[in-house]
Amino acid sequence: MKLTRTLTAMAMASMMAVSLVACGGGSSASDTTAAAADQPGGATEAAAQAAGGAEAAAPEGGTIGVCIYKFDDAFMTTYRNALQEILEGKGYTVTFMDGKNDQAEQNNQINNFIAQGVDALIINPVMTSAADQIIATVKDANIPTVLINREPTADQMSAYDKLVYVGCDARQSGTMQGELILDTENKGDINGDGKVSYIMIQGDPENVDAQYRTEFSVKALTDAGMEVEELDLQRGDWDRNKGQEIAQNDLAKFGDEIEVIFCNNDDMAIGALQAIQAAGRTVNKDIYLVGVDALDAALNEVVNGNMTGTVLNDAVGQAEGAVEAMEALLGGKTYAAGEQSIYVDYVKVTPENAADFQ
Ligand code: BGC
Repeated sequence: MKLTRTLTAMAMASMMAVSLVACGGGSSASDTTAAAADQPGGATEAAAQAAGGAEAAAPEGGTIGVCIYKFDDAFMTTYRNALQEILEGKGYTVTFMDGKNDQAEQNNQINNFIAQGVDALIINPVMTSAADQIIATVKDANIPTVLINREPTADQMSAYDKLVYVGCDARQSGTMQGELILDTENKGDINGDGKVSYIMIQGDPENVDAQYRTEFSVKALTDAGMEVEELDLQRGDWDRNKGQEIAQNDLAKFGDEIEVIFCNNDDMAIGALQAIQAAGRTVNKDIYLVGVDALDAALNEVVNGNMTGTVLNDAVGQAEGAVEAMEALLGGKTYAAGEQSIYVDYVKVTPENAADFQ
């Protein structure tokens, strides 16, 4: 947590520095920075450790291409800042590209990075359904690659042994959301009619995070013996405005029948909270609201009692894991099929511990 705060502060300082650095090289980079190449820091040691000490050390410095599915995503902005801070701190030259939620655009960006001869790639795919194509491309170019945030299947990843996925097991976050509701005084059944009536505001359903959070949040309730009623399920594509719209329409349609609003992420939950307040409802009194990510805005609302809880999606921990795996790959490590996913744990966030994450 302390590290999270430190990195956030460092990331902000770094972002300020970035704005002063001219984009160079004539590339189409959206955000290019060159870090001092003479201080690779703990790269060698981390790589040797991650590689079980068996492979060669990672090269000092090096150029890294990072593809983000879209910059305009609250959680991926935190993640991107952490990656930038860690990579630059280790002396890498890093270029970040904004996929603008367009797989064709991201494919071009990957091809450009390969043509430029980057040493490694870190890719947050726009569409997991494009994983086969992405993996075939990086394999063909023999570029060590770390996939982040959007997990392909183990089978897809097994096609290339210089490929790793670093992320979280989304089932865990869904289960924790359900537990947050079970921990309330009436286990989510505010009106005492014997069932928990909820609406589900889903992320992009193409993404396993959205699928698993939707499934496992409700499963935690039914596994605990609660009866549930789904009043509505709609895709909000991880987006605050869509979260607000869906919640507003559902509150108008179902009124007091809604006891719980599950949101697959915090940005949509913040939108839903706006609708809840506009409808004159009060979180933790006549309605419950949970998200995932532990964005700063959501942590504030948990502390203020305007969100029932959230789940830490550890952007800094995942960024550290991604860089560590990248360095292991650069040091020559290969990954066997079935061992290519590295998970960072989620953490349940309640009013009691929210301040620890701020
Ligand atoms: C996060 C969302 C984010 C999505 C992007 C999820 O893990 O919880 O906030 O929009 O990743 O793929």
